Amino acid sequence: MSAQLHSCPRTQTPVKVQAPGKINVHLGVGGAGADGYHELATVFQALNLNETLTLIPGGSSSIVVGGRYGDAEVPQDESNFARKAINLLIAALEDDRDVDVLRDLDIVIDKQVPVAGGMGGGSADAAAALVGAAHLIGGVEESILQECAVAVGADVAFLLHGGTAIGHGRGEKLSPVLTRGSFHWVMATSAGQLSTPAMYARFDELTPDPEPAVVPAEVLTALAAGDPDTLATAAANDLTDAAISAMPELAEVMEAGRDAGALLPLLSGSGPTIGFLARDAHHALDLAVLLQATRGVKEALRTTGPAPGAHVIESH
Ligand code: C5P
Repeated sequence: MSAQLHSCPRTQTPVKVQAPGKINVHLGVGGAGADGYHELATVFQALNLNETLTLIPGGSSSIVVGGRYGDAEVPQDESNFARKAINLLIAALEDDRDVDVLRDLDIVIDKQVPVAGGMGGGSADAAAALVGAAHLIGGVEESILQECAVAVGADVAFLLHGGTAIGHGRGEKLSPVLTRGSFHWVMATSAGQLSTPAMYARFDELTPDPEPAVVPAEVLTALAAGDPDTLATAAANDLTDAAISAMPELAEVMEAGRDAGALLPLLSGSGPTIGFLARDAHHALDLAVLLQATRGVKEALRTTGPAPGAHVIESH
């Protein structure tokens, strides 16, 4: 993706930033590298389900979490993804730039992306924090934002850009994907949680000799054509069997979605959220009503993709 300068006047006043959650429209998993990370060939799609962060200069480095998922357990110390991202940006710039305004920021997070569901909510917080912090200091080179994003997590780099993109490596080597129109998703969350490392370890047990990960050409053709029916026949998530083996009820939820007419049940990231692809907005509404009443589904959230990446929505 192109290098550009996020340039704007420096400011001491609060900035409000939005960043989207995501689904992996396709997640191909290959073998593990020497660093233990698996080689991915994935297609991310940013969803119109956003985290909103307000960064307030001159505070006491507090983190307040509210919103729909404000009650979830989100770290409020240095391990919080938003704080981690800002600390990395400070470290990357402090020798050359005045970054003092970033040292005592209060961060208010309006959580609208389910927590620990495989939808990248924490990564969205990091992406939003980077874009907001860049705004507060008058702009930061794209390549530096990208480096800080990757250092927090592979998904963060994608959420800076949004849209739909192929991710290779750990998912951080990105190239944009052409899409037509909007895709309609119903995201079915689960009351339980799945650990990402455990899902990759289970993948290794279930797939001792994995093929190199690929994105099927039909997935890209279907996205370019805005054709959900074809997308449904081509897309897959290679962590699905691992997730089902750890949480067998996911198979029932996927089956219930198919029975309710979903084109495709798709594990989101390493789960446990399942994204159900719908034909259009009406179909999504019907599906959401049926899924909401399904055992094992905590919430059925309707959304669409692609959506824009992290961006400033308000600054005074
Ligand atoms: O990306 P994240 O830090 O959440 O990954 C947590 C763990 O999941 C890694 O330490 C690794 O064990 C596993 N993982 C992997 N391959 C990937 C991504 C994650 O093996 N591409």
